[in-house]
Amino acid sequence: MCGIVGYVGARPALGIIVEGLRRLEYRGYDSAGVAVLGKDSGASPDEGLDLITVKRAGKLGNLEQELAAQAPESAINTGTTGIGHTRWATHGSPTDRNAHPHRSRNGRLAIIHNGIIENFAALRAELEAAGVEFVSETDTECAAHLLEQELANVRAELAAGTAPAALADSRAEQLAEAMRRMCRRLEGAFTLLAVDADTPDAVVGARRNSPLVVGRSEGENFLASDVSAFIAHTREAIELGQDQVVLITPHAVHITTFDGTPTEGKQFHIDWDAAAAEKGGFDYFMLKEIAEQPRAVADTLRGRLSPTGELMMDETRLTEAELRSVDKVFIVACGTAYHAGLVAKYAIEHWTRLPCEVELASEFRYRDPVLDSSTLVVAISQSGETMDTLMALRHARAQKARVLAICNTHGSSIPRESDAVLYTHAGPEIAVASTKAFLTQLVACYLVGLYLAQARGVKFADEVRAVLDQLQQMPGAVDQVLETMDAVRALARDLASSRSVLFIGRHVGYPVALEGALKLKELAYMHAEGFAAGELKHGPIALIEQGTPVVCIVPSPVGKDSLHDKVVSNIQEVRARGARTIVIAEVGDTSVRPYADHLIEVPATPTLLAPLVTTVPLQVLACEIATARGHDVDQPRNLAKSVTVE
Ligand code: M6R
Repeated sequence: MCGIVGYVGARPALGIIVEGLRRLEYRGYDSAGVAVLGKDSGASPDEGLDLITVKRAGKLGNLEQELAAQAPESAINTGTTGIGHTRWATHGSPTDRNAHPHRSRNGRLAIIHNGIIENFAALRAELEAAGVEFVSETDTECAAHLLEQELANVRAELAAGTAPAALADSRAEQLAEAMRRMCRRLEGAFTLLAVDADTPDAVVGARRNSPLVVGRSEGENFLASDVSAFIAHTREAIELGQDQVVLITPHAVHITTFDGTPTEGKQFHIDWDAAAAEKGGFDYFMLKEIAEQPRAVADTLRGRLSPTGELMMDETRLTEAELRSVDKVFIVACGTAYHAGLVAKYAIEHWTRLPCEVELASEFRYRDPVLDSSTLVVAISQSGETMDTLMALRHARAQKARVLAICNTHGSSIPRESDAVLYTHAGPEIAVASTKAFLTQLVACYLVGLYLAQARGVKFADEVRAVLDQLQQMPGAVDQVLETMDAVRALARDLASSRSVLFIGRHVGYPVALEGALKLKELAYMHAEGFAAGELKHGPIALIEQGTPVVCIVPSPVGKDSLHDKVVSNIQEVRARGARTIVIAEVGDTSVRPYADHLIEVPATPTLLAPLVTTVPLQVLACEIATARGHDVDQPRNLAKSVTVE
């Protein structure tokens, strides 16, 4: 939620910042704004810098239009230090006035923010009592005024000789000290970036419970919510820890904790390039990301076997003994990642014989789950920043449970706070609707199941190997599905005016039904619901009217016979009540043909792995219906890619 970017160097900052915002727009698109430190070409050399802010409600395009009207030689176009923000509104409606950056009272400081300052009401009351007049409804504006106050305090102490002498020579360090003092007063989740017109060549940032990474380069440095904002300029990055303040200047990066102790962030190299974050000829990121799924699945599987034939995690701070002592697994996640968890339950219980519960992360800690040191909690998150999931994992760790993260984003909070990590290698997922992240989460979940089975000795190495071999076939199978999507696209155009679409499935087909419905809701803004096929007769079947589209996920006929036959019966039941059936079944499954108004065939797969192929037509269906209804599939209304509030 909210994308932020900062730049300091020798090049004009504005273009770099706007380009960064374009790559971060998936995080929120309610408004966008920039602040640049610069000087008009006619200004005398003795004059200081001006702080120029421009911000507009709506998507980045609105801001860009406004910026295009600025003269090329103007301060905003020539300044070499700046910050930019793209907003997902929390406090205050998405208006020009509430857009970031927010200026302090003297107009010399500008600040941008991702997160929620939970004690903002008290802080605002305090500031108002001191005579500050607020111009917006945001929590962020408090931070702008507080930072100005703290900076004034630091400078007053320096004048009085009571501030640490080390601050005397550097205005940038004074700004960082003010940021530290202010952060100690804030509660909640925040990433903040600030610039001060009286502190040239410096951007200061801070993070608590919200992401911030540094991009390092020769003579210039960057700050951003994620690396995609600066990947076109550098692939060397530093991940910031919790409760840290960072000061960037063109030639230095200084990191301290909120109490001022110098520290070093974790350096990393970004192993994908700028092209991975571009549309690559597709109309939408979502279409590109759907098409990338075979490669993403293959990449997530790559290099998982040790030379001695054992499965490997990316990082594990769990011992073999700890894994062997696991007697229960909980999976916590949200949205699409939760659906991956629901599929994982079938595989983990089947392969490990351990009980496995799947919980919505947002509900987990409120029901006081029974956890102890022999519980393994698996936290699944594409972004690694979903606040509900982060809070669930913190709750689990506080109860002494071990936490294993499945995540797509290096250096994000969830893997950093977990005991072990298995990274999915989906590459950047920009479209708000999760597609390739889901498939790679499924692969990672299968690997976790096999890893546990191996560690606990309930599966022989050759059995693990056999499933891995099946998994290796899946990129090809996904590819085959993608090649046959023209019929799905035509069907989608036909369904675009439907009032409601239902999805049914059993076993691993049930979470696939939930995922198909979620995609349609979030992209096409249509009523869509997924049901366990057997549950229909207990109530929801009453929803079916003449012509209601029902998407039916059919398991393999060569898997569990009874399962397949039960689903075929359920298809007949809905059809008998007038449903228009859209059947997704294994190629060659002739038994479903008489009951399918539309048949979508997918390659044969082992029962547990089937979601890797049956989900793909549902992604295409939702994308096409949404497009036919005239929606922006990459940026559906009211949503953001990364949900960093609870
Ligand atoms: O980044 P995460 O995987 O933690 O995100 C969880 C959900 O917010 C996410 O999967 C969401 O449901 C997707 N937009 C659905 O397509």
